[in-house]
Amino acid sequence: MTDGIARPVGQQAGRVRRATPGDTRAVLDFTRATWDGWDYVPSVWGEWLEAPDGVLLVALPAVTHELDLFGRPLSLDRPIGIARVAMLSAHEAWLEGLRVDPGARTRGVARLINAAGLEWARAQGATIVRYATGEANEGSHRIAARSGFRMLRPWRSWQPPRDEDVDEEDAEAHAAERGDVEADGDAPHDAAADLDQFADLADEPEGEVPEDVAARATGIELGPTERAEDEATPPPGDGSRDDEGSRATAGRPAQSPAASPAESRRRLRRVGLSLDPRSSLDEIDGWYARLTGDPTFRAGDGLCEARSWAFQELTRERFVAHVRAGEVLVTRSATDGRNETGARRKLDDRPTHDRWALVVMPLSTPRFAADRPWAAVAAGDGDALLRLAIATRDALVRPIRLRLPDAAPALAGFADDFTRAGFPPASETLHLFERALTEDAPIDTGPAGALTLEEAPRRVAAPYRDRE
Ligand SMILES: CC(C)(COP(=O)(O)OP(=O)(O)OC[C@H]1O[C@@H](n2cnc3c(N)ncnc32)[C@H](O)[C@@H]1OP(=O)(O)O)[C@@H](O)C(=O)NCCC(=O)NCCS
Repeated sequence: MTDGIARPVGQQAGRVRRATPGDTRAVLDFTRATWDGWDYVPSVWGEWLEAPDGVLLVALPAVTHELDLFGRPLSLDRPIGIARVAMLSAHEAWLEGLRVDPGARTRGVARLINAAGLEWARAQGATIVRYATGEANEGSHRIAARSGFRMLRPWRSWQPPRDEDVDEEDAEAHAAERGDVEADGDAPHDAAADLDQFADLADEPEGEVPEDVAARATGIELGPTERAEDEATPPPGDGSRDDEGSRATAGRPAQSPAASPAESRRRLRRVGLSLDPRSSLDEIDGWYARLTGDPTFRAGDGLCEARSWAFQELTRERFVAHVRAGEVLVTRSATDGRNETGARRKLDDRPTHDRWALVVMPLSTPRFAADRPWAAVAAGDGDALLRLAIATRDALVRPIRLRLPDAAPALAGFADDFTRAGFPPASETLHLFERALTEDAPIDTGPAGALTLEEAPRRVAAPYRDRE
């Protein structure tokens, strides 16, 4: 197009190639202020360029002398859109970082680069691809609908509102929780450091441990002092933690500076919340069976947020790895039917000791530097889950983020208790989308010639566990 008149949406042609360092200036120019003056892309762009677990793409105009929506000429070499494919496991891809230059929007660029992302994801061996977006992001929803995604059940965060006087959370996390930010992906890891730590797990009975989890499994052994404290700490489920829990629930929870992952792990272990990392496989399997049969876990399609803001299947292998890393927190019984105000309520007919809750709490670096520790999975009975959440928060001395599938059975009858205890629901939900990448699920790349892939997609990324 040489007349500078914008074509109708969907008619635009474009080229897509992998990003190079030379794209940096242009990309930072248009991603600096995506969300009310903020975007996380500039802070991760450099790492994304290098990250071996994904493919970073840029879209370029197809014809020269085209003008953008502000009347500025577009150059053939200047990126106008970006998208990233992250391989979360050998067969699961996660899309993140979809951005289009504001001057090039509504011309079909996002659709094209999204289609290119699917092609690249498939070339990495992905048979399934997912992404998440805020419920109000209409553009993103439309792209999902056009490219064969189905919406999964929405998820919602339950956590205290952010307060800058109290929280040190930064603007990015604020925006994400308001729902006006896509929720898309995890920060790249420090691969060298993680691989180093992974060596310690070489003798684990489950050799096939996902590295991102396994890397965190060091440091779970307690030192002599901690062991002594550990022994002095009442075991979970005897009710003695309940007082601690209710103390911090009204108003704002106490907060200490973020502890290191190792320290967090120790704190959780000290108060008896973590399932013993050295548990037998039989015991772990018992918990995994309980979890996979749980209606809340099933309502969430069996997914977990193992990396913050990225969802994937919680396989048994991954579950075992979380246990080994001291990241599975459980409680077997929690209440005699009293709610937070002390009123008795009818729960169900099961005896108290049958009530349980389980939280998987990845203790790794979150996607957002100042984001809170988050539950990758939260399941079980609502009353027990609330107690476990309170105890976890108190042990970490930090606000934590729970995220649950909307209308989770665990919340039935307990939503008000969660709110009163300092875990109110976010006003907007996070929408998860999923589609297959199998041969019988073709990728719509638009009219013939609309999408030019400057390089034939080929396998270039390795999910984290497959490296080295
Ligand atoms: C969302 C975004 C990527 C869309 O890029 P784009 O190139 O303008 O999108 P396209 O032109 O390919 O349009 C794709 C579809 O979205 C619709 N759409 C695009 N922007 C829209 C908007 N602001 N409101 C409603 N619909 C919109 C288009 O009409 C089209 O729908 P259709 O195929 O049913 O006609 C772009 O607006 C952007 O970068 N936004 C900020 C970052 C963001 O929200 N990223 C997505 C997070 S998951």
